[in-house]
Amino acid sequence: FASSASMASIEKIVVIGAGLMGSGIVQVAAQANYKVVMVDQSADALKKGEGIIRGSLKRIAKKKFPDSTSEQDKFIEGVCANYSTSSDAIESLKDTDLLVEAIVENLEVKRKLFSLLDQNAPAKTIFCSNTSSLPISHIASSTKRLERFAGLHFFNPVPQMKLVEVISTDDTSKKVLKDLFDFSKKIGKSPIACKDTPGFIVNRLLVPYMLEALRLYERGDATLQDIDTGMKLGAGYPMGPFELMDYVGLDTLKFITEQWYSSNPHLKGESLVIPSPSIEKLVSQGHLGRKSGKGFYDYS
Ligand code: CAA
Ligand code: NAD
Repeated sequence: FASSASMASIEKIVVIGAGLMGSGIVQVAAQANYKVVMVDQSADALKKGEGIIRGSLKRIAKKKFPDSTSEQDKFIEGVCANYSTSSDAIESLKDTDLLVEAIVENLEVKRKLFSLLDQNAPAKTIFCSNTSSLPISHIASSTKRLERFAGLHFFNPVPQMKLVEVISTDDTSKKVLKDLFDFSKKIGKSPIACKDTPGFIVNRLLVPYMLEALRLYERGDATLQDIDTGMKLGAGYPMGPFELMDYVGLDTLKFITEQWYSSNPHLKGESLVIPSPSIEKLVSQGHLGRKSGKGFYDYS
């Protein structure tokens, strides 16, 4: 016996959160001809998300059709026709096969949202979180669809980074994991599998690296510019750690470290994941990195 829920394949998608990540996820799904709804709390946030999508599509269109602005416009409008926007998460969930959540990195806020969505979404809908650092099982336990809950972790900038981590809890069904692998490939990404462990694969390595760069800087051992130059020219990284932190968003990085630190008691005392005072200071001043115009560097 297979229920209609387990037979369904992914066609219609809802992405909650129209920020850096949510807008990118909407874009890549729309580019692959999925029908997508982008949801956020306010018209302003949705407008911001649409601006990010259009800006990115323009770069892609210019490369794809260097000699024809009309072809560029046709491409952009074609992709944009595949998504709509809404500030009503519950209404947008009708008929949805896949929900990807990309809101603020806060366990309680995510749990509250998922609990509400679980009571209103069709049984067939697969729930995914794009969390960077929170245990998927701690988010999933706010719902009653444990076998249809997984992590789908994209990388910034989503249109450019090829990787998606597919994270399974002990309860995630094999069929759901297969659907998520298939979906990731259809949107042009390379999926990798990981268990629900702190930081999954990439952030387990990347976050301590960024925090270790902060310790070097905070001790006064080197300037942040020299640390960035060091990692670019000495290790071949496309961005130095401070450029990357500004790119990720300092508020997001602050949430990641705090949540990671507090939700994994066995990591307490591990210097690698202790929150950083320089990040605290910049965030309290409203300097969130590129998205606010200033972080470790000035982008204005
Ligand atoms: N949309 C579309 N295209 C984009 C884009 C976007 N948002 N951003 C960059 N590109 C394209 C550019 O058009 C350009 O294309 P061509 O080479 O074909 O001309 C290409 O990407 C390179 O861009 P740039 O020349 O502007 O700059 P760059 O060479 O420095 O590359 C970058 C930009 C791809 C972002 C590169 O610097 C990079 O890979 N940085 C590291 C990013 C990274 O590590 N991301 C992971 C962050 S951690 C995370 O996401 C997980 C988490 O949970 C926090
Ligand atoms: P962001 O600050 O750019 O965007 C978050 C968006 O969520 C905002 O538009 C906000 O209005 C919206 N939002 C907040 N609460 C909401 C709610 N209850 N309902 C609907 N919308 C709500 O953040 P981001 O960088 O896009 O990060 C989003 C998620 O993706 C976080 O979990 C983060 O850890 C994860 N992530 C971030 C990166 C990164 O490099 N920035 C990479 C991978 C994963």
